[in-house]
Amino acid sequence: LPSHTALGTVPWLRTDHPVVLRNSLDADNVVTIPNGGAQTPNADVTPERTIRDVYEAKTSSKFARYQQEYQASIRDVAAFWNQQALEYLVWDRPFDHVLQGSLEQGNVAWFTGGKLNTAYNAIDRHVQAGKGAQTAILWEGDEPHDVRAVTYDALLAKVAQIANALRAQGVGKGDVVTIYMPMIPELAMTMLACARIGAVHSVVFAGFSAEALAQRVVAADSAVIVTADQGARGGKSIPLKNIVNDALTKMNTNDVVDKVLVWERYFDHDALHPEETEPTYEMQPKDVRMDVLVAAQRPYCPPVSMDAEDNLFILYTSGSTGQPKGVVHTVGGYSLYAAFTTKNTFDLTDGDIFACVADCGWITGHTYVVYGALLNGSTTFMFESTPLYPDTGRYWDMVQRHRITQFYTAPTAIRSLMRYGEDIPHRYDLSSLKVLGSVGEPINPEAWRWYYEEVGRSRCTVVDTYWQTETGGHVISNLPGITPMKPGSCTVPLYGIDAVVLDAVDGHVLEPKDGESTEGVLAIRQPWPGMARTCLGDHERYQLVYTKPYPGYYFTGDSVMRDKDGFFFITGRVDDVLNVSGHRIGTAEVESALVLHPAVSQAAVVGKAHDVKGQGIVGFVTLDVNHEESPELLLELRNQVRSEIGPFAAPDKLYITPSLPMTRSGKIMRRILRKIVAGEVDTLGDTSTLADPSVVDDLIAQVQASE
Ligand code: PRX
Repeated sequence: LPSHTALGTVPWLRTDHPVVLRNSLDADNVVTIPNGGAQTPNADVTPERTIRDVYEAKTSSKFARYQQEYQASIRDVAAFWNQQALEYLVWDRPFDHVLQGSLEQGNVAWFTGGKLNTAYNAIDRHVQAGKGAQTAILWEGDEPHDVRAVTYDALLAKVAQIANALRAQGVGKGDVVTIYMPMIPELAMTMLACARIGAVHSVVFAGFSAEALAQRVVAADSAVIVTADQGARGGKSIPLKNIVNDALTKMNTNDVVDKVLVWERYFDHDALHPEETEPTYEMQPKDVRMDVLVAAQRPYCPPVSMDAEDNLFILYTSGSTGQPKGVVHTVGGYSLYAAFTTKNTFDLTDGDIFACVADCGWITGHTYVVYGALLNGSTTFMFESTPLYPDTGRYWDMVQRHRITQFYTAPTAIRSLMRYGEDIPHRYDLSSLKVLGSVGEPINPEAWRWYYEEVGRSRCTVVDTYWQTETGGHVISNLPGITPMKPGSCTVPLYGIDAVVLDAVDGHVLEPKDGESTEGVLAIRQPWPGMARTCLGDHERYQLVYTKPYPGYYFTGDSVMRDKDGFFFITGRVDDVLNVSGHRIGTAEVESALVLHPAVSQAAVVGKAHDVKGQGIVGFVTLDVNHEESPELLLELRNQVRSEIGPFAAPDKLYITPSLPMTRSGKIMRRILRKIVAGEVDTLGDTSTLADPSVVDDLIAQVQASE
């Protein structure tokens, strides 16, 4: 048994691990250990036990072969991806160049000169290959009995109709269509319809507020919003259309939006004359009834042949400023990467029922609910509800009823289900499962063990998939049956991903040395097809955030420990990005929301380890004169964040304080606040640069008194 993983020393179990960045985006930036920092290892999960259970494959010949193939893949990434591009996709026109540009210059382009259509690759070619009667999308709504199976034939027809409907409303190639919808099949179909006609979708998670939606619509200059009258989650209706109405009133430039296309969540598709039915919502001048419009369209629409480097979609994500970034993914590279990673990481084979229970509002839903499985001609399972509705067995009930083979969720969901005990998963027949996936945050060994043993019955592979909105798909993950598993480690890079650990300060590569572990920041040394190409309308920001901090490398923003076997452990973000229940939230966004309140003078937001959510949000605010703390004010402030961003970003705890720890030049030292909320007051570090060091004692007293 290798002695490589003393779990007591994996980074997130330690709490004091500062790394100062060289090109710090914020001088106050230090690495904190965000996720599960408060978790102590379960006494019975000894490193020996867990690892003996799962590590026997260490010397397997398959892993040795992976290592050889991996080395070959990064020795010549162009040759490697050339081969994959021909294997995984059908091209209308072959590409002239596999790879152009460089990370150094921030101008990477893949498969230039090549032409293809993503929707054609995800649907038509499977129909042409005789798979028309196979289920493409298997959907389960908020209520477990609300199930729909959409075959590839039906998907093709419906996507063509939606594509024609979009065209009829003036949408053309290159136009940005904002999608603000519940998790119903029509959401995936609308995304695919955009891809079919070369429109660029921008899906906004339906948990975002009217304000956040408006901001994203305006930033993308999107003339068309596709929404639904309502969504359903956990037995409650969510008034999406009202939120869209609200968003329209919040846009200074209201003229951005020409049309609002509205699906009706409970539309009667069997109605003989749908156009004669009454809409379920009060129609506004810009509204178009989507079900009615679509029913009127011809179910044939030729796919538009796109350049490989044309935009496929944008997706807004949080960074270290208050403005979300519109991350741009392109047709050729992204499609290849989605297909390739789904196939390899999940060992996808014919007949599989692949279930990723993420929401399409996030990148995981794009790559692994919609594109990845369909590009491989598989069946993708789509889920509208929550793991706790109508009861805590929901996931396992679905696995049993639909014979799901791959199940992909976030550690936060596993942690919330663990609390109800292993009896719940044990009640169900989970024998169809082969691979269990984890995504979005580090999975703590206790949750890993539960997932592996209680859900997977110690016979499924748990893949811990590390990636980002910007990477398009997995970049580090174990491969089932090939890579040995280590609880808490996303293991080793995928083929073609030249992942390196850099010294955070001077940026040099810390090359792996046999038997030595190392810590630094995670970067990728060579381009890969799934990487984001730019931030919409702001290439400078793209370079500033990703390619300039360490010239010649893609910088992930994460810190990492690579153990002496070469296995990667993600130890947290080095920028001001929080990860709450696997949702990425910028502290600056929450702070901007708080200071909009008339009573607030200054705000500082930090993350605090949370047992279930990974991280929770703690805010500190100072008030303007003439305002005083009251329970009502605290509620208003929380509501302010809910209405500016969305309920998921609401702080767990807010402190109203007379002052914040500031440097003499007026910068808030969040590092100190992070330490205080973590209860690590003995390791505050240097406080001598504070304008008024006594603030710290007051804050410590205030936080301790409230706990
Ligand atoms: O910090 C890493 C964490 O989530 C960040 C990316 O967030 P987002 O773009 O919203 O994408 C989430 C879904 C891919 C990363 O920078 N992260 C994601 N997966 C893992 C992870 N941290 C540790 N282990 C993972 N498996």
